Amino acid sequence: MPYEKLLHDNKAWAKEMVQDNPDYFKRLAQLQTPEFLWIGCSDSRVPADRITGTQPGEIFVHRNIANLVIHTDVNLLSVLDFAVNHLKIKHVIVCGHYGCGGIKAAITNHDYKYILNMWLRNIKDVYLLYKDELDAIKDEEQKTNRLVELNVKEQVLRLAKTSIIQRAWKYDNRPMLHGWVYGLKDGIIKTIFDMQPGTALDSIYEYDDL
Ligand code: CO
Repeated sequence: MPYEKLLHDNKAWAKEMVQDNPDYFKRLAQLQTPEFLWIGCSDSRVPADRITGTQPGEIFVHRNIANLVIHTDVNLLSVLDFAVNHLKIKHVIVCGHYGCGGIKAAITNHDYKYILNMWLRNIKDVYLLYKDELDAIKDEEQKTNRLVELNVKEQVLRLAKTSIIQRAWKYDNRPMLHGWVYGLKDGIIKTIFDMQPGTALDSIYEYDDL
């Protein structure tokens, strides 16, 4: 596909939107009030807005390989801080997907070289937390898909460990945290794990002077 097609189709799309609603871009340009932050996988088959039927302006998005929440990732933490403290979003959704290439790669012993190894090692750390359960699954695809689910749960727990989330829980009783997994084969999102504002954590992670 030539890259020019993307620019051409963009013009056609913009024209169509204005035909349906002449003020479409004028209204969007003035205001952004999404209620959802989406932390998803970079995989091209999992577009956050398309699979949730949301429109521009409705969902704030961060994506990386295997939808990880890394405590030293300034990119993700900036997105989280802005979404929670400025956009005042009500829900954070971590959405993985079955058949995730990042999860599959992390299960192998292959050397993906410097940078990818560093990123994928975070997933190996999640595997280790649930080693007994995962080692008991003999089918590779089933094992991958269970780790996809457990990884989503772990990333939601990591969100709750941040002072950003804990402060918003304490003073504003939001956001609710969600762990979801999208099925590439059927297009359906399965809910895996969620956390209501104020849920207790292991005490070592709880800040008492927020
Ligand atoms: Co993926």
